[in-house]
Amino acid sequence: MSSLNSSKTALKAAVAKFATVQLGHMPTPLEEMPNLGKELGLSLFVKRDDCTGIAFGGNKIRQLEFYFGQALEQGADTVLITGAVQSNFVRSVAAVAGKLNMQCHVQLEERVSDPSPLYRDNGNVLLDKLLGAVIHHFPEGENEAAADAAMAVLASKLAAEGRKPYVIHLGPKHFPLGGYGYVNAAIELSEQLQTSHKHLQAFDEIYIGSGSALTHAGLLVGLRALGIDTPVKGVCVRRGVEAQKPRVLERANALIEGAGLPLRLSDSDIDVFDGTLAPGYGMLNDQTKQAILLTANKEGLFLDPVYTGKVMAAIIKKARGGVIAGKNILFWHTGGTPVLFSYQDQLS
Ligand SMILES: Cc1ncc(COP(=O)(O)O)c(C=O)c1O
Repeated sequence: MSSLNSSKTALKAAVAKFATVQLGHMPTPLEEMPNLGKELGLSLFVKRDDCTGIAFGGNKIRQLEFYFGQALEQGADTVLITGAVQSNFVRSVAAVAGKLNMQCHVQLEERVSDPSPLYRDNGNVLLDKLLGAVIHHFPEGENEAAADAAMAVLASKLAAEGRKPYVIHLGPKHFPLGGYGYVNAAIELSEQLQTSHKHLQAFDEIYIGSGSALTHAGLLVGLRALGIDTPVKGVCVRRGVEAQKPRVLERANALIEGAGLPLRLSDSDIDVFDGTLAPGYGMLNDQTKQAILLTANKEGLFLDPVYTGKVMAAIIKKARGGVIAGKNILFWHTGGTPVLFSYQDQLS
């Protein structure tokens, strides 16, 4: 316990050198999912990051504490972000910008082919509009570098008009600052484990969505820096294992270097699973639909078709395949529930 406490103090000090603004409702609850656990033959818990507060919560609020901290430090008055049409990150940025009296420009990328009218207008798009974001469109779809370049052009234009823009970049060429939000989440979890029921002490595996990889990488770095070696299973939501694994590793080591932590991760530390991703980003599959229905029915808890539904589908697949029978599993709920309303035609 005392070595955990001393690594926690060191980790907190390492992360404290980055500016932050306090945004979220933390700590988020850590709860048991007894009915679904029984159904799957597991001891199943959920970390409720869907309850981080601000405009339907989610994992992005933890990351934004760092991005907005840096934006305010730099004197920015305008924030820019690019993401999928139904991006939760975009909606969260629009909400926080409004709260901090900043202007917000969002660029929506056409990553999903043949989207329904609901996908274009409901869910997060409706919320972006209600939040007053200035919406731009990026018709090219899945091209991270080009989407980033378009943001840079827009930022220059705004700067020429006298604004002080701050771009939130999630691409691999940029420092993954927001990942420290999940280093803090690892500290938070360790504190909950220290004070909770002993049953919570030893998760065998933690399941979390892995997209830009900031969440996955941050959590992994935080846990390892605390000396906690629980496997973190990143469930691929955007790209397959081959592309995602090096991305998580690179993001994790960038976070380690940025904070000067005495740690280095290698390929074997990164665990990603893409067995529930098909047919691709933002595309609902039957396993995910079943996961959404089962979780709603058994636990009164909503998941989404793009991220958390695929993570729960992975847990269900492994449980039913006997791979994790009887284990103590933590499902990390990263939010995203407004997306549900844009998939109404496929879910109802
Ligand atoms: C609800 C939800 N879960 C998980 C993720 C994946 O997080 P990350 O992009 O940090 O890998 C996202 C990303 O947009 C998300 O919106």
